[in-house]
Amino acid sequence: MIAKDRLIFPLDVPDAQEARKHVTLLSEHVGVFKIGLELFVSEGPPIVDTIADLTDAGIFLDLKFHDIPATVQRAIRSGSCLRRANFITVHCDPGLLEAVAAEVPDHTKVLAVTVLTSLDARQLTALGIQPELAEEVVKLVVHRARIAIEAGCAGVVCSGHEVQAVKEEFGMDLLVVTPGIRPEWGEVSKDDQRRIVTPYQAVRNGADYIVVGRPIRAATDPAVGSRTEGVTRR
Ligand code: C5P
Repeated sequence: MIAKDRLIFPLDVPDAQEARKHVTLLSEHVGVFKIGLELFVSEGPPIVDTIADLTDAGIFLDLKFHDIPATVQRAIRSGSCLRRANFITVHCDPGLLEAVAAEVPDHTKVLAVTVLTSLDARQLTALGIQPELAEEVVKLVVHRARIAIEAGCAGVVCSGHEVQAVKEEFGMDLLVVTPGIRPEWGEVSKDDQRRIVTPYQAVRNGADYIVVGRPIRAATDPAVGSRTEGVTRR
């Protein structure tokens, strides 16, 4: 994989017009475009075709499904937009992951969200996670990654702090996608992301893909902010 292929850009924008603008501007520099809740809720399922028709980059439908297995399974069965998605996300819940992994078409990779990168030890403790796992988030991530593998998922989403442990435990074939990327040269700080690393650290630790949103969107010139020599720079 060349550096560009590893870069996932989240289309966290309010409407299709803004999304088209970013896809046109960044297609040369980005391996995968991610459609998340904001754009999906505002534009509905046709946005997946709109984006897929505009670019050769991969499509990541990041809806982070979390409900009882039968409900999510039925949603996936009825969602024709999923056919264009190379990746979808599901929260880490054993029965749910299994149901989803069994339902998706072959070309769609199911990624299990282990522990959101916006959560830190304090918040995990507040959520009732046992202290040993809350204070050493890596243990919780590895525990959940095991659940994901056993359920047949292609990969997991976790922060750059945990990638190395996940790869060491489960081998290189398990895909790891890493959000919470904050370049030292970036203009974004003090936001909702807690477990952050630089793009350089994430890739060095073994991330297959990095998700870089606000640091690129906030750059004076997003196309320059997304250039892969920038992304692999510390
Ligand atoms: O770089 P930035 O913080 O803007 O990127 C945030 C994007 O990454 C959002 O689209 C968010 O949904 C996604 N994401 C995340 N944490 C996860 C999974 C996905 O921040 N665990």
